[in-house]
Amino acid sequence: MKRNAVYPGTFDPITNGHHDLVRRAASIFDRVVVAIAANPNKTPMFPLEKRVDLARQVLADLANVEVMGYSGLTVDFARQHQASVIVRGLRAVSDFEFEFQLANMSRHLDRDIETVFLTPQEQFTFISSSLIREIAVLGGETREFVHPIVAAELKKRKA
Ligand SMILES: Nc1ncnc2c1ncn2[C@@H]1O[C@H](COP(=O)(O)OP(=O)(O)OP(=O)(O)O)[C@@H](O)[C@H]1O
Ligand SMILES: [Mg+2]
Repeated sequence: MKRNAVYPGTFDPITNGHHDLVRRAASIFDRVVVAIAANPNKTPMFPLEKRVDLARQVLADLANVEVMGYSGLTVDFARQHQASVIVRGLRAVSDFEFEFQLANMSRHLDRDIETVFLTPQEQFTFISSSLIREIAVLGGETREFVHPIVAAELKKRKA
């Protein structure tokens, strides 16, 4: 049986940390759907279409990876795409509490879907989209933390 996984997030924008995680997931599962949540309550810097477009370009080298936008419950999205696994990332202990809560809630919503946690290579553990956005708005250089096409987009958002 083929195993499909969904990797949900806001990806506002996709970082080298996200890329590292997708690459790991793609080597474990037959197919990985990177599911980009509309998340209007987070008031994203990039509109959904742009976040999807950037992620598609950044992840183009991974053959068994697909990028899709979605709104609604992640477990519903997973079921619709025949995925039995949700992939999430853990950077530090600080991620644990929220991720643990989310994983338990997902299990209550659909007990057939398992959440699996992956950790990135150490050099990516301090990268978050929110920090990257902050650096960009303040005029800092983000090239070290994101794909060049993302860095170019971020440059346009300087305050
Ligand atoms: N550098 C990273 N290494 C490992 N996992 C990561 C990394 N960045 C994000 N993740 C994980 O990816 C998933 C989706 O995260 P999300 O899209 O919210 O990114 P984020 O960097 O946490 O963004 P924000 O700072 O806006 O919350 C979460 O499980 C998160 O823990
Ligand atoms: Mg986050």
